Amino acid sequence: MKKLARIFIPVLTFALALLSLAGCAERNRADQNADADFSKKGDVLVVYFTWSGHLRSMAHWIADEVGADYARILRKEEYPVSYNETADVAKKEKDENIYPEINLSLSDKEMKRYKTVFVGFPVWWYDVPMPVMTFLKQANLQGKNVYAFFSHEGSSDGAGSLPTLEKLMLAKGAAFDKKTALSVRGSKVKDSETVVREWVKALSK
Ligand SMILES: Cc1cc2nc3c(=O)[nH]c(=O)nc-3n(C[C@H](O)[C@H](O)[C@H](O)COP(=O)(O)O)c2cc1C
Repeated sequence: MKKLARIFIPVLTFALALLSLAGCAERNRADQNADADFSKKGDVLVVYFTWSGHLRSMAHWIADEVGADYARILRKEEYPVSYNETADVAKKEKDENIYPEINLSLSDKEMKRYKTVFVGFPVWWYDVPMPVMTFLKQANLQGKNVYAFFSHEGSSDGAGSLPTLEKLMLAKGAAFDKKTALSVRGSKVKDSETVVREWVKALSK
């Protein structure tokens, strides 16, 4: 029985991984343009990473609702245009704990005025995409309130991503409660503007 479990559990895990990833296989890589606005002069920053564009919509609704600055995290070396190739590169990064170089680096001085930081990402291989980890690792988040918003194609609870953030935020001295995170299925993002805006409003109550 134990032998069977040793064979079937990894096979089943792999099959489930393929299934959940297949859900977005028809999507295309979004443009690789930088997208940032640091002109709002408030104390809220929205940072996000996206491959096929969902998180860009969510980030913009949040930034607009709060009147916040925002910035897109881009990997310096672009991910492939092909979904499958991107999945392979992302898996290698995660498995080997590679922190890729990114376009966005905010100094302590630049981070100082923000009290609240929203972090948006697609769930990748049941976790936070490594370019987001690069940003979070280098940014000074001491004493800040951090809120996560993410989209997925099945990992509706964020899988390992929220525990990953919880651990990192604790180490960085930021306040983070995984229960406040916003989860939206990728295919529903286009109809989720109200949900996203209501989530932000509820956080500030
Ligand atoms: C490399 C890669 C890995 C993914 N891994 C997962 C996963 O583990 N669980 C899941 O539910 N969705 C997974 N997805 C689907 C994305 O999370 C989902 O399509 C998301 O809405 C994409 O957001 P975006 O348009 O901002 O890139 C993955 C997508 C890619 C490209």
